[in-house]
Amino acid sequence: MAELSKAQLLDLVNTTHVAEGNPRVKALTQRIVTDLFKTIDELDVSPDEFWAAADWLTRLGASGQTGLITAGLGFDRLLDIRMDEADERAARAAGTPRAIEGPLYIPGAPVGKGEVRLDEGEPKGEVLVMEGRVIDTDGQPVAGAKVDVWHCNEKGRYSHFDPDQAPYSLRRAIETDAQGRYRFRSFLPPGYAIPPGSPTSELFQALGRHGNRPAHIHFLVAAPGIRTLTTQVNIPGDSFIDDDFAFATRDGLIVKLEPQTPPAGYASLGVTAPFTRVRFDFVVQKAQDDAEATGLSRAAKAKASIG
Ligand code: DHB
Ligand code: FE
Repeated sequence: MAELSKAQLLDLVNTTHVAEGNPRVKALTQRIVTDLFKTIDELDVSPDEFWAAADWLTRLGASGQTGLITAGLGFDRLLDIRMDEADERAARAAGTPRAIEGPLYIPGAPVGKGEVRLDEGEPKGEVLVMEGRVIDTDGQPVAGAKVDVWHCNEKGRYSHFDPDQAPYSLRRAIETDAQGRYRFRSFLPPGYAIPPGSPTSELFQALGRHGNRPAHIHFLVAAPGIRTLTTQVNIPGDSFIDDDFAFATRDGLIVKLEPQTPPAGYASLGVTAPFTRVRFDFVVQKAQDDAEATGLSRAAKAKASIG
C-alpha cells in the first residue's frame, strides 16, 4: 500500500486510529482536512504557497495574534449571530445586544464601588463620564453587578499588549450600587488599527483590506443569577463606524454624546469643567443556569467547559 491516490490518502488521514479519541474533535478535523484537500486541488495550490501559509500560521501563533485574525475574518461576529439566532429560537432575544469580546480583554482589573476613574491622572483627550444602571429585563436594578470596562489609549493601543502602558491602564471594574448604578470617568478613545508590520497586517494587505475599528469601549457585565453580557459601545461620528474591520458595530450600541455637560455632581471623579457625558443602561437577562453566569472571558469559559 505504498502508492496512494489523493482519495486513498484522504481516507487514511480521516480514518487511521489506534484509540477511540474524541469523536467531536475527529468529526471537525475530518471535515476541515477534507475541505482543505479540496481547496488545494481545485485552486491548484503550489508547494511554495502551502509552505508560505504554514510559515505565516507559525508566525501568527508566535505573535499571539490568532484572535485578531478571527475578528477580521468575521468569525467573532459569526459566533454572535449564531447565539442571537439561538436566542430568537428560544424566545430569549431581549436586553442589550451582545457584541464581540475581541482579543484584548484581560481579567482581574482593579474593582471600584459605584464609580471609578479609568484614566490615571493626566487627561488624554475629551473628558468622558459614562453612567447608567444595570437592570434586568423586568426593569429591576441589579445591585452588586460587576461591570468590567476597557478601551484603548490615545494612540489606539491596549494596555498589557502595549509595553508602554502600566498594567491595567484603561481597564477597571465597577461594582454597581444598591440602585444598580455605575459610573466611570475616562476620555473619549480614538479608533484602533491592527499592529503594522504584523502577521495580521500582512494578510490584510494581501486581501486589500484595512485593519481599522471605529472608536469603541468594551464591557463585560456579570452578576450572580444574571446571564453574562459581553458588549461594546461605539462613539458616534467615527468614519469607520459602518466599516469596522471586525464587523462588530450594532444598532442599539451607538451611544449619544452629551457634550458640555455641567460638572455639578461629578466632583468625586475630579470633574470640574464641562465634559462629555454618555448615559447608558445595560439591560441583562436572568441566567438559565450557572454556566451562563460565570462572568468569564471567552477564553476562560472555553477552558472551563472544554479544557
Ligand atoms: C481587534 C481589536 C479590538 O480592539 C477589538 O475590539 C476587536 C478585535 C483585533 O485587532 O482583531
Ligand atoms: Fe477593542
